[in-house]
Amino acid sequence: MSPVQRFWPMLMAGLIGGAALAAPFAVASVSAAPRGEDARRLAAEIVVMQADTAHLSGPGLQELHRRGLKARLGGGLALLPLLIRAARRDVPSWPAPDRGLIDGLRRALEADKAADLAAGLARLAETYPFNTAGLLPPDTRPRALAAAGAVHENYCAGCHDEPDTEVPRPAWSLYELGRKAPPRELAARLVIGVRGQNLTAMDNPLKDSEISGLIAYYRRGAPDEN
Ligand code: HEC
Repeated sequence: MSPVQRFWPMLMAGLIGGAALAAPFAVASVSAAPRGEDARRLAAEIVVMQADTAHLSGPGLQELHRRGLKARLGGGLALLPLLIRAARRDVPSWPAPDRGLIDGLRRALEADKAADLAAGLARLAETYPFNTAGLLPPDTRPRALAAAGAVHENYCAGCHDEPDTEVPRPAWSLYELGRKAPPRELAARLVIGVRGQNLTAMDNPLKDSEISGLIAYYRRGAPDEN
């Protein structure tokens, strides 16, 4: 395993999962983020939490993975106030969330009240809309697809092509995600999963144009399916 590969799990799971651990870093680094990046990260996080909430109560989820998903949602909620604070520096017209809303979401998650969670997240999604400019529509041009394929093979396939389903939070197949998730959700997951981390010099490893190509690439399916 290369150092980069070894570092990915932290990169991937750090902000979302280890909220307590990551918070000091997030505070220190948010101001260094390029303009608009924090706003998009917040909005993408909300889109992903909405989709995760739907999965949480959906069929076919093993108990181990349900717990993993719940932990990930908990991490996301814990981090939300910080993300909102940072995002409002990007977009001063964005209001603070209603008092008690996020605490209410935490309680809803704790009590497995998916409908309450979904309702609260929908309010947040209205307040902090996800701007997909530069990401959607997916870049389906041959050059973009070829570049995305190379990125996938070099940096993603090692973990995502053969998911270890024995762990609570597997690196699920990105091709399958591409098949199932609507483009907007896929875009949000890629914004957070790949570039949403400010923990290292590796932050924002991919450009918008590359993410747009990856969206097109994963939606097409694995090369051997084409
Ligand atoms: C070292 C292993 C590793 C590598 C390399 C890696 N990932 Fe991941 N990735 C993970 C794990 C583990 C998760 C699940 C994290 C979680 O559930 O909190 C994940 C989650 C994701 C998600 C979110 C999926 C979801 O279900 O929400 C996306 C999108 C993603 N990765 C994209 C990528 C892309 C694109 C690359 C290559 C540029 C990449 N990953 C490289 C381990 C990896």
